[in-house]
Amino acid sequence: MNQQLVEDLEKTIENIPNFPKEGIQFKDITPIFLNPQLYKDVIKDLSAFSRDKIDVVCGIESRGYLFGIAIAVALDVPFILIRKKGKLPPPFVGQKYDLEYGSAEIEMRTGQLQPGQRVLIHDDLLATGGTTEAAALLIEKQGGVVSQFSFLIALKDLAGEERLKKFNAEVHQILS
Ligand code: PRP
Ligand code: MG
Repeated sequence: MNQQLVEDLEKTIENIPNFPKEGIQFKDITPIFLNPQLYKDVIKDLSAFSRDKIDVVCGIESRGYLFGIAIAVALDVPFILIRKKGKLPPPFVGQKYDLEYGSAEIEMRTGQLQPGQRVLIHDDLLATGGTTEAAALLIEKQGGVVSQFSFLIALKDLAGEERLKKFNAEVHQILS
């Protein structure tokens, strides 16, 4: 664990109480982007975890793009966007998942991921794990191998990690 990076991020990320709903503490990561050196340190940590272990990075809209593309560039591998429903032109493949109230769906362009490719699924935050689990199912539907998950933050009290165990993939987060 990179203790200095953990401390720098803890000082930088803002905890906003009761947003977007009463009882939820929102983690505002946007101050990271005011500090290019800190951003570079984050990318160094996240890319070191995946170096030589993956063929492609899949990032989840929208905050998963903020670090995901930079990880892919640092590792010299392709980046594929996982988007929220209705944003991608056909052909695409989708995966529904349950929310606290109702459901949501994410989509990927078909033909961008090749069967057998080892995938890093990256997002900024793991909370309940619903979004990331749906992303992993979407990769498996296309014959991809879910090799790794990485997050800037994985909230420990919401059991998201438990939900990802069935994929037998490595998991890394900088903060928990
Ligand atoms: C947030 C966060 C993760 C997801 C985590 O995204 O960026 O993608 O929720 O929640 P879960 O583990 O309970 O599924 P959000 O849907 O708010 O959208 P955004 O990234 O576009 O801001
Ligand atoms: Mg998100």
